[in-house]
Amino acid sequence: MIKINYDKCVGCLKCTRVCIWTIIEERDGKPYVLEDKTRGCAKCMHCGIVCPEGAIEFNDAPMMIGEDKPIVSDTFAEDMESFLLTRRSYRDFREEEVDEAIIRKALETAAWAPSAKNQHPTRYYVVQGREKVDAVMGHILDYIRETGESPEVLSELERGNNLVLGHAQTLILAYSRNNAINAPQDTALALDYADLMLQSRGVGTCWAGYLTRFANKIPALQEMFPLPDNNSFYGALLVGWPKEDYLYIPERLKRADITFVK
Ligand SMILES: Cc1cc2nc3c(=O)[nH]c(=O)nc-3n(C[C@H](O)[C@H](O)[C@H](O)COP(=O)(O)O)c2cc1C
Repeated sequence: MIKINYDKCVGCLKCTRVCIWTIIEERDGKPYVLEDKTRGCAKCMHCGIVCPEGAIEFNDAPMMIGEDKPIVSDTFAEDMESFLLTRRSYRDFREEEVDEAIIRKALETAAWAPSAKNQHPTRYYVVQGREKVDAVMGHILDYIRETGESPEVLSELERGNNLVLGHAQTLILAYSRNNAINAPQDTALALDYADLMLQSRGVGTCWAGYLTRFANKIPALQEMFPLPDNNSFYGALLVGWPKEDYLYIPERLKRADITFVK
């Protein structure tokens, strides 16, 4: 588990201050790992990444990825704001598929999203190709015709507007075990990280609420995308190369309603 290399440790005690569960405490000016508390370790690695001497290891391996400190550009804050304001929902896509490598990278990056007790319970199905996506839509249409639910999907489809899948050829379905501490939030955060990563590379995405709801209801979809017991879908994205570019930032009629309490 957590091991401090006392040959390297300079006793700055930063590691004791960042541990959420106070597993590392100060003794005689040096950090000390309370072994009987390590069962509760969130494995967040904060103790290791705050250590200026690289003196803390986890399971005999470094706690950080790479030796170099990550750098962001001088214009990062402005770029980030522009990026967030220009991220949009895309529903119409070109025929050309988004490379698996781009999707994999985005989903892998999502592992760095915040997650309750660092549980990261989110897992994914990525559906690729017209044939599979049409099969998903077929099951949804069968279900709607059978149950009469969401009739607007049928009426819009008659006008050539697919409210559920747009013109996507790639879908990401995110699921989690229901008994994770914060399954809905963890999944939304992970998927949002992936969403932002994809959009930063010019890929168009759209959150797919209809699809998420149908995936949890329709047995034929559950057969297509089997989940372990007590798991549910908590989010989904439509993915593709956008057909149109948005030119401006849209006016937002609902703005932040903030109350500071001091
Ligand atoms: C949880 C969630 C579910 C959504 N479900 C759908 C959906 O099923 N179909 C759709 O076309 N858009 C869906 N959207 C996209 C919203 O309609 C969109 O975010 C909103 O209109 C604002 O547009 P913008 O994302 O370009 O700012 C969903 C968004 C969220 C956050």
